[in-house]
Formats: sequence, C-alpha cells, structure tokens
Amino acid sequence: MCGIVGILGKDDVAAPIVEALRRLEYRGYDSAGVATIDKGEIARRRAAGKLNVLREKLAREPLAGRAGLGHTRWATHGAPIDENAHPHATDRVSIVHNGIIENFRELRDKLAAKGRNFQSATDSEVIAQLITAYIDEEGASPIDAFRRMLSRIRGAFAIAAIFAGEDDLILAARQGSPLAIGRGDGEMFIGSDAFALAPFTNRVTYLDEGDHAVVTRQGFEVFDSGGAPAQRREIVSSVSDAMVDKDGHRHFMAKEIHEQPEVVGHTLARFVDPTAAALRDFGAGFDFRKLDRLIVSACGTAYYAGLIAKYWFETWARLPVEIDIASELRYRDIPYPKKGGAVFVSQSGETADTLAALREAKAHGQRIGAVVNVAESSIAREADDIFQINAGPEIGVASTKAFTCQLVALASLAIKAGAERGVLSKDDQTALVAALLETPRLIAEALQQEKAIEKIAADLSKARDILYIGRGVSFPIALEGALKLKEISYIHAEGYAAGELKHGPIALIDEHVPVVVVAPSDRHYEKTISNMHEIIARGGRPLLISDKRGIKEAGDVWAAIEAPETHPLLSPLVYAVPVQLLAYFAATAKGTDVDQPRNLAKSVTVE
Ligand code: G6P
Repeated sequence: MCGIVGILGKDDVAAPIVEALRRLEYRGYDSAGVATIDKGEIARRRAAGKLNVLREKLAREPLAGRAGLGHTRWATHGAPIDENAHPHATDRVSIVHNGIIENFRELRDKLAAKGRNFQSATDSEVIAQLITAYIDEEGASPIDAFRRMLSRIRGAFAIAAIFAGEDDLILAARQGSPLAIGRGDGEMFIGSDAFALAPFTNRVTYLDEGDHAVVTRQGFEVFDSGGAPAQRREIVSSVSDAMVDKDGHRHFMAKEIHEQPEVVGHTLARFVDPTAAALRDFGAGFDFRKLDRLIVSACGTAYYAGLIAKYWFETWARLPVEIDIASELRYRDIPYPKKGGAVFVSQSGETADTLAALREAKAHGQRIGAVVNVAESSIAREADDIFQINAGPEIGVASTKAFTCQLVALASLAIKAGAERGVLSKDDQTALVAALLETPRLIAEALQQEKAIEKIAADLSKARDILYIGRGVSFPIALEGALKLKEISYIHAEGYAAGELKHGPIALIDEHVPVVVVAPSDRHYEKTISNMHEIIARGGRPLLISDKRGIKEAGDVWAAIEAPETHPLLSPLVYAVPVQLLAYFAATAKGTDVDQPRNLAKSVTVE
C-alpha cells in the first residue's frame, strides 16, 4: 500500500513529483523514489526512510527528465531498504506499484529460470521484469508488453510505467487500488488521489476497476477490463491544493485534536438544522421501517465509531445492528437479508478491507450507505448513499477528528432511523438533536484539561502495559483509547469491557499497571466504579475519566481527568478527547514520531 505519481511535464519533473509525494505520505513512508526518462534512458533516485531522505539525495544528485514517476512506500514484500524502494526498473522500463501481486512468486520463478536478474525482494519488480521479457524476447511494443503483463498478474494494484526511449508516454492501470489522471495544459499527471494532483490541476478522471490508460502530454485513452475503449467522466475536483500546515501545533495530530469543536460543528451543520433543532432531510436511502437489522462495518478507529453507533441504533431505533471488522465481514458467509442495509465507515474511503466488505454486501443486494471524509474516494463512489463528514484533511496517521465527526454522522442517522421507525417522538428527537448541538462546546471544554492531561500522561508513559475499561458506549472509547496509545506511543495497551475484567485481565493488575477507567455519570457508572475498586484492592493504579460528580463520588484514585457532563449516550463524542490527549502526550513524552508512527500508514489499501 503506497502512493504513486506520474508526470509528463514541460520541464524537469523530479521536484514536482516530490511535492506530490509529500501529499501522499499518508499512504506510507518506509521509502520513496523517483524515476525519469533522461536522454532516452531510465534514471532513478531511491532512498529508504521518509521523503526528506530522498529530497536530500536529490539535492546531492539531481535528476533531469520531463517524464517521470514517483512512489512512497508502505512495505508489504521486502524490508524497507533502498533496493526494495520503488520505482523498480530494468533498462527498458520503470514502474511504480501500489498493492500486492498475489502470484508474484510463480512469475518470478519462471522469469528467473529464464535468466532474468531480480534486484529486489518485492512482489512489484515482477511487473518490470515481465514487461521487459515481452519487449526483449518477443519484440512487443511498450503498450503490448504492458497489456500482456496485466493479463498475467493477479491481485490488487495500481501501476504506472515509463519506458526507455519514450519521453511522452505513461501507461497506467487500476485494479483494486485507486488511480486518478489529471489533465494539465500540455502536461499530464497521474496519482493515487486528487490530493496528490491538486498542485497541478483540478481536472481529474478516476479510472474504474480493471481499466488501463495510455497517457501522453496531449491527452489519454482509457480501456476497460475487456480491452475496449472506454469513456470516463472528467470531474472538477474540489480538493484544495493548499498543503495543510500544522497551524502552530507541534504535530498534525495535536492540530487535529484541537480542530474538533470546529469540524464537529461543520459536520453537524450537514446533518442538523440548528435553528429548528431538527434533523435536515439528508436523504438516507434506507427504508428504516423495513429493515430487520443493519450491518455496520469498518476498520480501526472507524470500527469503534461503528461500535458506538450500534448502541444508538438499538436504543433509539430498536434496530438490531450487526457489526464486524471489515477484514472479517468480507469473508464471512453471512445470510444477508433480502433488501437489507449496510453502513461502511471510513475516513479515507480507500481502506481495502472496508471496500471489499462493501462490495460483498452490495453483491448480496444490500443498500449501501457510507460515512466517509474523502468525498471522491472509492467507497464514496461505490455507495448508494454518502454521509459525508466535514473533518477536512486528516494528516496524522492516528485518526482523531474523523472519529468524532463519524460519530456525528452516525448519531444523526440513528436518530433518523428512530424517527422513521416510530420509536422516537418529536420531543425525543428534538432533545437528542439539542444534545448533539452541544457537543462542539463540550469538546472545547474537554480540551481545556490539556495541561492536566499532559502531566498525567508523562507518568503514564513510563508504564509498560496499560489497561482501559468502560461499559456501554464507554466500552468502545476504552478500545479506542488503548488503540490510540499503542499506535503512537508503542506502549502495550488493551481495552476491555469493564465487566470482563474479572474473567481474565484482572490477573494482570499490580502496582505497575495503570488502568484508565472511562466512567461518565451514566447508568453504568456505579458498576464501573465497583470494577475500579476491584483494581484498587489488587494494588492497581486507576486513572479515572469522569465528570465532576463522578470524580467526587469515586473516592481515592491514583489520578483523575475531569470531563464535562454530557447526554449519557453521547458521551463518546466528548470522552474521545481525553483519551486522544493521553495518547498524544504519552507519545510526546516518549519522543516517538506522533504523526507517522512506525509500521503504520494512514490509508491501508492492502488486505
Ligand atoms: C489505518 C489508520 C487508522 C484508521 C484505519 C481505518 O489503520 O491508521 O487511523 O482508523 O486505517 O481507516 P479509514 O480510512 O477506513 O477510516
């Protein structure tokens, strides 16, 4: 899973390619590289590590050429070292690849047996070697060789290729990974998304599944999976070319945590009419009255948003929710109901597992709703109904503001379902919408605890293991808190339903294991506090996150973080903030790379 770029320019393209790669680093940052056609020959610079390492290399060893490709890598096959960095090349062709070639071993063995000399441990290099074999051994033209290569490889990919002796040609293909073509004035661009293309053009065409394209400076032709010429619509992309900056914060993650009152407000405005304290008619295509259950699926943080929504749909709409992680859902043999409904949640809209689960549900006749942040993403394009959130670009790899905005969209949908199913009266709806409208202010209030949280997090950062517990809607917050902490601070953390503690995890408790107890004053409060006392009795160190009342009634704890009082079922929108800040400050205390933690990527487009 990686980011790819290609430019047929008027001048040297290495610098603009690096600029586009900077905008694709969210897709991986294990290594980066650029290849160009310089005086008819393929020239390359590649470097393990983040884009800056490549940038420095290019400053020392500049690269000329008006046709080129770029790549930023999230390693799947082969360690993140220079040799495995893309673009891969032979003397004939250079390629960049995003995805996985599933049958690469078989192809590599055959090619190696014929004497082809592989330079890397990647699955991707087989693309360059196959093309070269067709050119060298069978005299194929670049286009022919590229097409024959496509017919041999299996898997999910986006690929682009440039050829020695061809200064005005990029060949590109898409199957399972996104690819967009941008039209300039006598220049052409390709990229993994419109964000990468935004500095150059807003005239963007997305390839469909199975398409390949022949791109020259004058234009491009698209061919569908059967090889027939195909028309794909050009859109005017709304993606801004402004590279978001940190706005005075040390990290994007800090900026994004602080943006939440604003972006949650923007998202609310999409779903709710504040003057009438009523839902807008945002047109969910589901007939909620006829649904027996709703399927919800997502990955990572978005999955936890879905888990919270399960409580909402079940309470407010009496609609059973079946929720699963997308990587599981896609392979389950689910007895899908006739004309059922499924909602997929994804910040990027490109997560491979979520997209595959969506397609599976669609193939089984389900109506598809998608809660997405990126409007032009694959998931948005394949859904029947889009519930777009207004989080703005989220750059920090650990999702924060997208999560709270997803919650707004899902809460609005659940209230709508409750109204249509006759469960919520007009008054109930007004009360819930009014409570939702308070969340931006309450999030801002929660943010005021930042200094206190920073201090506690400094202590927490010394722990080796940390548990998080919560009940009801606070259980997913415990899960999310633990996920945030482990992904950016590398401290081992697990979230548990508070009631499950006694069935195993309590064996881990001693004075070295802090336990973050998420317990707003709701109907679960007393039970969770009893669990907290079980921890104290075993020498554990509870860090209680609750409101003023909750903290007062809890008695002595190791530490406490105060959150504002909230509607009992909407507390996750507010309690997300302290667990995000805890993780953030534990990570800064440890000095880890908060925005680009090791081994992770923002958008995961492989299985
Ligand atoms: C990656 C990110 C997570 C995100 C997950 C799902 O693992 O690091 O922050 O929650 O993907 O991404 P999506 O774009 O589908 O919400």
